[in-house]
Amino acid sequence: MLQGEFGGAAKFAMSILIRMADVYEATELMDITQAHIDSCALLSDSNLEFAEMLVSRGGHVSVPTTLNMIPLDLQNWERLGVPLGFAVKAQRLAKAYTDMGCIPTWTCAPYQGYLTPRFGQQIAWGESNAIVYANSVLGARTNRYGDFLDICAAITGRVPKVGLHLEENRRGQILLRLVGISPLLFKNDLFYVALGQLMGNITQNRIPVIEGLTENVTGDQLKALGAAAASFGAVALFHAVGVTPEANTLEEAFQGYAPEKTIEIGPSDLQKAWNDLSTGVEGTKLGAVVLGCPHFSFDEFRRLTQAIEEAKGHPRAPGVRFVVLTSQTSYALLQRSDFMNTLTEFGVEIVLDTCPFHSPFISPQTKTIMTNSGKFAYYAPGELSSHVVVGSIPDCVRSAVAGTVIREELRWSVS
Ligand code: F3S
Repeated sequence: MLQGEFGGAAKFAMSILIRMADVYEATELMDITQAHIDSCALLSDSNLEFAEMLVSRGGHVSVPTTLNMIPLDLQNWERLGVPLGFAVKAQRLAKAYTDMGCIPTWTCAPYQGYLTPRFGQQIAWGESNAIVYANSVLGARTNRYGDFLDICAAITGRVPKVGLHLEENRRGQILLRLVGISPLLFKNDLFYVALGQLMGNITQNRIPVIEGLTENVTGDQLKALGAAAASFGAVALFHAVGVTPEANTLEEAFQGYAPEKTIEIGPSDLQKAWNDLSTGVEGTKLGAVVLGCPHFSFDEFRRLTQAIEEAKGHPRAPGVRFVVLTSQTSYALLQRSDFMNTLTEFGVEIVLDTCPFHSPFISPQTKTIMTNSGKFAYYAPGELSSHVVVGSIPDCVRSAVAGTVIREELRWSVS
């Protein structure tokens, strides 16, 4: 490849991988069998220039490759008020990646859609929440591949043989022991958001092992946990004893070693994490609700529909937008369901393929936004200059009806 036998793009991509292998002090490259690309964001013109340069040099992926969100709802961008100049660049970017043979999944929850990786599969994934889910919940193996390195790996089918690709680097480092948590909390989605915030802050880029989660935790709850942990820290892999596939026992999670550190997590720690997640307060005038960060699953649409039905026909307050981000895959399922009427009547705006921090469809005048997502709460104050309040899906619906922020009080302790 370095000699150009496989074309200019492969030569260029391989030269970057070799340089990165030096940086990582890797002595070998290894094969991957799947990739997920995050470089298809339009952070600047360089994203577009890089992709089109690869296409012009004959770039084509050599392994099945899915795509993260694109900076545009390809179907509804005009209605959403996205400027034409931006939309044209985003469409060119989309075309460049699909021209290279990538699969147009356009989602940041690729593990809930097409081509879910298997246990032990060596992959090169971008997008922090997808990486932590693939490693932790599915037991596939990837490092955190940043923009451009991901597409270089997809084109060459090779990555430096380091980090989480290797069994010995996947053992737990820090034990997080849950103590005195009310059993009811394990059923509450918000518990996982608070725990993710705490886990990210405590462990940063170490590998945490959680002891005390119940085996009934859902895929969407693990999605919320990992997304928050990967935002507040740089968690790429966690184990949960009795829940995730490399942690059937505590001993297995630590591969027989002792934890470097053991930290007990009790109700007051979670309460503090919960309080720290929001920058806005109850009673504030609400500008918008944004759900689907990471992209909403079909089951999350089911729960949103139930929450709207519980509002018993009360409409959204004037001026409050209710946005839900999702993938084409979940949307296709949604269209086969009978939820659509309820969602449409309530004025839910379903936004496809994209991300609120990469596509300009939330007005800068929006002062307070409610969400159920720890990841959204982490980024919104900086990226959208808005206050953010985290609440459950029913909290978000009730607040949208009232026009002000309302939250049910969470009981963190057993008593
Ligand atoms: Fe997805 Fe954007 Fe959230 S990529 S996870 S909607 S920050």
